Amino acid sequence: MNTTDADVRRLSAASVEATPETSARVLENVFLKNTWYVLGWSEEFRTSGPHGRLIAGEPIVLYRGADGILAALEDRCPHRWAPLSKGRVEGEAIRCMYHGIKFGRDGRCLEIPGQTTVSKALQVRSYPVVEKYSLVWVWPGSVERADPNTIPDLSMLVEADRRIRHGSLEYEAHATLICDNLLDLSHIAYLHEKTFGRPPDAPSASRPRPMFQGGSPSEALDNGVRVEGWMDSATHRNIAVPAKVPDGDLWARTDFLIPGIYSSHLQMFPAGSAESQRWKVPSSELTPLSDSMSIQAVTPLTERTSRYFFSLGARMCDMDDEELNRVWGVTRATFSEDVNMIQAQQQMIDRYPGRRMAGIGADRGLVLFRRLMQKLIAAETGT
Ligand code: FES
Ligand SMILES: [Fe+2]
Repeated sequence: MNTTDADVRRLSAASVEATPETSARVLENVFLKNTWYVLGWSEEFRTSGPHGRLIAGEPIVLYRGADGILAALEDRCPHRWAPLSKGRVEGEAIRCMYHGIKFGRDGRCLEIPGQTTVSKALQVRSYPVVEKYSLVWVWPGSVERADPNTIPDLSMLVEADRRIRHGSLEYEAHATLICDNLLDLSHIAYLHEKTFGRPPDAPSASRPRPMFQGGSPSEALDNGVRVEGWMDSATHRNIAVPAKVPDGDLWARTDFLIPGIYSSHLQMFPAGSAESQRWKVPSSELTPLSDSMSIQAVTPLTERTSRYFFSLGARMCDMDDEELNRVWGVTRATFSEDVNMIQAQQQMIDRYPGRRMAGIGADRGLVLFRRLMQKLIAAETGT
């Protein structure tokens, strides 16, 4: 199913009838499998473990072998189904601590206490796992399709001249609702009026003004959706830009990529730059006054639980530790506001499972992304 601009206009028109793209029906326990999910920040797995986790409904045990390399196995011993995360790491292997069966990093059974032979039936599933950009990525789909080169470029997370803060939050909500939220900037003025929201003199709903000017408002990419454009100082006043450059024209580009990776780059240029660049992508010859970023990731755990990873980074020369900590505090408060609202939204959805939601214009980005996800899941499941 190809999504055309006409489809999106139809779906996002204020008077549009409710559609599957905006309904609760996508909040089922059907997850994309052939993709790289963020399992956690690398620093969570400094110790050998084992660490029990969930990804897209699958229990996974992660451990670091004596050689320092991570292994990801199904967190269920094939014998009597004890979790391997209650086991013990031995060299580059893991031993189930119920009856002592030992497994290698590739999932093969290496030893059964009291037996001289091992059975192939005792194989445990092994998942491709990669550490990249200070994150741990796991592929829950077909092993032969796992290509680490398809992990999105998040190199802003590891640039030497950047100060970074990062964290994570647990949600009692389906991952799709969190992705919807990150693709919909219209909620910032209202849900985050006390944190990141626009100042009181910002336009009201009766006098709407787009958050971005120029650029591309929600453009479909092969693997996601791009939102980019210029913001004037009235709009970006409360956003995470350094205090030393309060005025100017802010260029922001956010890519939201399969399966739920948010990568946002914010660059402040001297006032008048938007005009001189004709409201288009700034030329690489233009030097930014400041440069900040945020990388985030949404990972489904189960049908009703998710983990949200987030970060904030500024150039060393733009913010010192104290300023970055202050902005980080506001950022965390902002994300807590999202948690409260989205969990309440999930409860409402579950109370009225047969009902459909209605769309508005600001839903364009999330409609594009939901359609892309549905297309990929349908191709995988054959539905
Ligand atoms: S359940 Fe793992 S060894 Fe028996
Ligand atoms: Fe938000």
